[in-house]
Formats: sequence, C-alpha cells, structure tokens
Amino acid sequence: MIDILLISSGPDRSHHIEQLLEGCGVAHRVRSVHGSVRHLRTHAASIKSADLLIVDDVGLEPQDMASIEEAVSHVPQLNCMLVTPAPSTALLMAAMRAGVRHVLPWPLDAQAFAAELSHVWGKKTAGARREGRVVALTSCKGGTGTSFIAMNLAHALATQRGKRVLLVDANQQFADASLLMSDQTPAATLADLCGQIDRLDNAFFDSCVMHVNDNLDVLAGAGDPIRAGELRPAQLERVLTLARSQYDAVIVDLGLGINPLAIHVLDQSDRICMLVRQSVLYLRTGRRMLDIFHELGYATGKVSVLVNQYDKHAPVNLQAFEQSFGMGVAHRFARDDKHAGAALDQGLPIMSVAKGSALAQDIVAFAHTLWPAPQKEKKSGLARLFAQKPRDVPQLKTNH
Ligand SMILES: Nc1ncnc2c1ncn2[C@@H]1O[C@H](COP(=O)(O)OP(=O)(O)O)[C@@H](O)[C@H]1O
Ligand SMILES: [Mg+2]
Repeated sequence: MIDILLISSGPDRSHHIEQLLEGCGVAHRVRSVHGSVRHLRTHAASIKSADLLIVDDVGLEPQDMASIEEAVSHVPQLNCMLVTPAPSTALLMAAMRAGVRHVLPWPLDAQAFAAELSHVWGKKTAGARREGRVVALTSCKGGTGTSFIAMNLAHALATQRGKRVLLVDANQQFADASLLMSDQTPAATLADLCGQIDRLDNAFFDSCVMHVNDNLDVLAGAGDPIRAGELRPAQLERVLTLARSQYDAVIVDLGLGINPLAIHVLDQSDRICMLVRQSVLYLRTGRRMLDIFHELGYATGKVSVLVNQYDKHAPVNLQAFEQSFGMGVAHRFARDDKHAGAALDQGLPIMSVAKGSALAQDIVAFAHTLWPAPQKEKKSGLARLFAQKPRDVPQLKTNH
C-alpha cells in the first residue's frame, strides 16, 4: 500500500488521475486536494506521511521547484510526481535537480503512469524504509489500564510526534483494543493474519489492519482465548518483523501475565513497560514479574515500571514501589476517572476529550520520552512546516 497525496488543479483532473490510480494495479490510499504547487505548505502534515506526492499543476514553472525540493529533502520516504502540460526542458532540468524523477505530461498516458506507480511501490517494498521499535505494555493484573494507555500512547505518538504507528492487540484473553479505537468490525485479526502467514506480504498485512487515521493502524486482537491459543511464536515473529519495517513505532498491548507466547513478544521488544497501580497487591506480583524478566535475561534498561491511575494521596507511594522493585518508577499517569470514562464511552483518545488534563499530558510526555524530539536546528520557512509538529487531534472512531 502506498500513501498518496494528490494536489490537483481542478476536480475533473483529480477525478481522472484517481481513475488511473484505480486501474494501475498498485495498492494505494489517496488523499485528494485542489490547488497548485503554491499550496504545498498548507498540506505539510499530509506530505510528511505520504510515500508519493502527485502535483498536477497546469502552470508549473522551473522556479516552483524550490518548494518541491524542500519537501522531498525533508521527508525521506517521499517520491514526487509532477504532471503538467508539455513540460519544458528547463522544467525537466529543474525537476531533476530538485530530486524529482517522475515528470509526466498531461494528458497522462495510462501505461507510463502505471509504470511510475509500480516504481514507487517497488522502492517502498524493496528496502525496509523504517526501522520501527517495538514497545510492549504488560501488567500482572487485569484492570490496570494497559489497553487504555497503549491505545492513547499509540495515538499520541501518531498525532503529537508524527510517527507512523501500529498498535498490536496481543491480549490472549479478550482482546478489546480495536473496540476502544473504532466501532467498526476489524477486517481481520491477529489470529486471521497468523492463520494465513504464508500469504504475508506488505499488501496482505495492510489489508488486515484497521486504519484509524493517517499515521495510526491497529491490528485487532484474536478476540478470545481459544483463537489466541492458535497463535504460534514463529508467526508472531514474522508479523513483528514486517511491522518494524513499515512503522516507526509498534506498540504491543500484551495484556495480562506471562506465558510462552508473551515471552516471545517480550524477547523481540525493544522496551517492556510493566504497568502497576498503587495497591499492595501490585507490590508483590509486580516484584515477581520483574524477577521473571530478570531470569529471562532482559537488561535492566529494557524494562520500565509505569504507575497508572496515580494518586499522590494513595497509601502506596512511589517510594514503596522503589523499595519493593529495586528500581524507580519511570513514569506515572494521573488517575482521572471522569475523563478516562468519557474517552472510553465516546471511543475517543483522551487528547480529544480533555487535552489539558494531567492524564493527557502525562501520556504525551511519555510519548516524548520514548521518542525524543530531534535537537532543534534553525530551519527555513517550509522546512519548519515539514518538521515534527503537533497535529489536529482526529477522532479515533473511523469509517473505514
Ligand atoms: N489513568 C486512569 N484514570 C482513570 N481510569 C483509568 C485510567 N487508566 C485506565 N482507566 C480505566 O480503567 C479501566 C481498565 O482499563 P483497561 O485499559 O481496560 O485495563 P487493562 O487493559 O489493564 O485490563 C477502564 O475503564 C479505563 O477507562
Ligand atoms: Mg486490556
């Protein structure tokens, strides 16, 4: 699947290009807007997550290439295709210098167009264009908020940090992460994907995930313990390997407890987050879980303790965890029954329900801890637009 942003001079032309896209046989997702090359800035956020930018502009001039070059050079995976009537040699030269390899004359030749699309698709699938990190969230008890934090963390990484994120619901009891994200029935679940593992390629994977927004996909959980019991470690390994190559961040909601399958996911994770709540029950079972992580040979830096539903007046305080666990609490998420409940009821991320709440801020802060923002450098106008910046927070419920 390639993500395409199409900037077209008018509705007739965009409709024609969309029809050509339909017929070219390359799996794609297209977002169409009307405008010209001068409107690139307005679409900086969409350009950042696109694989292909098609600029169909009747009045394209060689001097317009500066803004295109800026976009191409700041968005590593981006390919750019220019469509314009009878491109001049000067325009072709300027396009080449700007790093644009696809310049097509209007009216478009269907075969030449399809060939360019296949080229972009080939480039996307040939190299692992991303080297995603896998973060597993787990807990020693149900009701800790593992799914809630996993879902909101995935959302924060996608919208606040501009990362391409996959949330994998690997709960082996009753997977519900996809329900928190959408009221749609997922096209497929992790169990379906693993059941047809021989078919696994980027296109099949893409057809199995639920697209929540431009940057966030969800792989729904197996649904029940029987189906989850059919999952095999080697299958999960293949799924995670592919996910790493397609996403910046792979957040795995492992749910409750440790078993051979969970251990396999933990082995492959770059970071393990053990969530606890402020109750004496967690002091003992959490300690046992950490001991098992130690016995499994996980480096101390790989494992973090996170306190959810944090209440500074609760009798079990952060020092109690530190004493019992022999390690500090890496992060805490405020208890906020009102907004967490509202977010759950409405199927929205906490950022949409209560952006300024302590809980939403704690989740965003954790997203920044996991994926720190790059050092600030002085950037020109357009380059600043293509840099990471908060986006509007879309609703999690999706219609596709
Ligand atoms: N920080 C929080 N403050 C208040 N309620 C929370 C918080 N985090 C989670 N919850 C609520 O706790 C309940 C259990 O969360 P869930 O994510 O399903 O737990 P788990 O996946 O660990 O079983 C949900 O109703 C959720 O809305
Ligand atoms: Mg859960």
